[in-house]
Amino acid sequence: MSQSLHFAKKLSLLYPWISTPLIVSAPMRVMSGPALAVAISRAGGLGASCLIQKSSTSSSAFHSLSPANPPLPVGRFKPCAAWLYVPRQGQKDFDYWSDRIRDASPCTQIWIQIGTIAEAEGLLKGSERPEGSRSWAMAVVDALTRSQIPLFAAGGIADGRGATAALCLGASGIVMGTRFLAAEEARIGHGYQREILRARDGAGYSPRTIINKSFVEYQAGRPFKELKELHDQALKAGDSGWGPGGRLATYAGASIGLIHEVKKAATIVYDIRKEVLERLSLLQEI
Ligand SMILES: Cc1cc2nc3c(=O)[nH]c(=O)nc-3n(C[C@H](O)[C@H](O)[C@H](O)COP(=O)(O)O)c2cc1C
Repeated sequence: MSQSLHFAKKLSLLYPWISTPLIVSAPMRVMSGPALAVAISRAGGLGASCLIQKSSTSSSAFHSLSPANPPLPVGRFKPCAAWLYVPRQGQKDFDYWSDRIRDASPCTQIWIQIGTIAEAEGLLKGSERPEGSRSWAMAVVDALTRSQIPLFAAGGIADGRGATAALCLGASGIVMGTRFLAAEEARIGHGYQREILRARDGAGYSPRTIINKSFVEYQAGRPFKELKELHDQALKAGDSGWGPGGRLATYAGASIGLIHEVKKAATIVYDIRKEVLERLSLLQEI
């Protein structure tokens, strides 16, 4: 854990506004807009905004990157971090994207989203690799610790308990997506946000989505095309398009059930940071 906290402190040199333990907001399509990203960064976290580039090849978003061009569309500012994910050609895409970003903006830190040990190994390029059948989280922590790459934990974290557990496992900070859907600054409909507070894992939730009428009908075999038309009609209905009888997509992560209140993004960051520090100091008394 001391090594991971050492990495976290080193990040303060790159991102002088951050406080530790570092709380990062996950990129979430249109929902993580600039207002949310700025509010989280102002609270000492790291806010993310999502760039969705619809393109025929996975690399085309990066073709135009050069020292002469702004690296990514964030106005006249260069991003402090670029978060890369879902490469179509695996490590080859990551290498290509990273080279282009480094050429265009050497100060932009490159964050890579990994979901498997194999993806972590891809980053290590021949250095010592994890072995055996330990839990994948610990294997990845071990592998990346030796490589000096800080690791941030994501998935199912929505309060100080989850955040403390992730730090104790060796993460240098934590990433939250779903918790920030219930932030005042999230770019999300009220109906959607109401569902985030209402839904519980194990009742009305299936991985990645809150169950609604279209989900149930899709499972029963209704064609996607018909459901898409109903979805588009429901968009016009506004907030009533969400809910158990609704038609609108209601993406959510596994922390559903832990989120009971809409709060300012800064309050979410402060509350979780405070709870982590309290829990860690309690551990010292054991
Ligand atoms: C509504 C929503 C939209 C998301 N959109 C994306 C996305 O466009 N690309 C991506 O890589 N991850 C996306 N994610 C995943 C997050 O980046 C992050 O990995 C995940 O939310 C972390 O788990 P948590 O939601 O349990 O905190 C999304 C998650 C949510 C909840």
